[in-house]
Amino acid sequence: MSAKNSEQQWGWPSKLMHWLTALLIFIQIPLGFYAHELERSPLKLELFGWHRSLGILILMLVTLRLLWRIAGTVPTSIDASLIQRRLANLAHSLLYGLILVLPLSGWLMSSAANRPINFFWLFELPAISGPNETLKALAKEIHEISVFILIVVLVVHIGAALHHHFKFRDSVLKRMWF
Ligand code: HEM
Ligand code: HEM
Repeated sequence: MSAKNSEQQWGWPSKLMHWLTALLIFIQIPLGFYAHELERSPLKLELFGWHRSLGILILMLVTLRLLWRIAGTVPTSIDASLIQRRLANLAHSLLYGLILVLPLSGWLMSSAANRPINFFWLFELPAISGPNETLKALAKEIHEISVFILIVVLVVHIGAALHHHFKFRDSVLKRMWF
């Protein structure tokens, strides 16, 4: 299996990063909602510790993935109408944007709340702002709105992937798989 992306196939690093991110997102969203609902407790703090670390891991992965994407080629669009290709590009750009904005707003929210981010209890991340109530509320708002947009775009994204595979029977899902 080739490491480099080609005109026909995603290379294994892109595939690995796509599916690892997908797995982490599927853990991160329910974890965020669940921890959010809990009463103040040691469990809540512990779960948010995991939520922050996983979120920063997603940020690292997406940064690496975008650098890798810029450095190489990407598979060409399959034979689809212009509007379909535009919609796919829009959905993919939105997904990249959202999985950047989510960890960054989370980081900002934690910094503005004066809460340290301890990456898997290995090292502490620098604060990106001083304590600031207004900024904290703004970052929280951005985080919440982004979560809901992400869920909607993901439903469309997964639906489209399944549609390509089972209805159009083309290579879109296969070329992202191992
Ligand atoms: C069951 C879940 C998922 C399925 C079946 C799936 C399927 C796919 C497929 C088939 C592609 C390749 C499209 C192509 O080659 O033209 C793709 C690309 C992509 N997926 Fe997913 N995906 C899933 C989950 C996710 C999640 C959770 C995210 C991030 C939040 C995500 C973000 C992306 C992005 C950004 C691309 C564009 C890649 C690029 O052009 O660089 N996907 N996905
Ligand atoms: C892609 C990454 C992320 C996803 C999908 C995500 C998702 C969520 C969800 C679903 C919630 C619960 C609903 C809400 O209050 O908005 C939440 C809350 C929260 N997240 Fe994240 N999050 C991510 C990254 C991060 C990061 C990196 C941090 C901090 C470093 C963080 C900090 C928080 C905090 C502090 C809350 C509680 C907000 C409150 O008090 O309501 N998140 N997140």
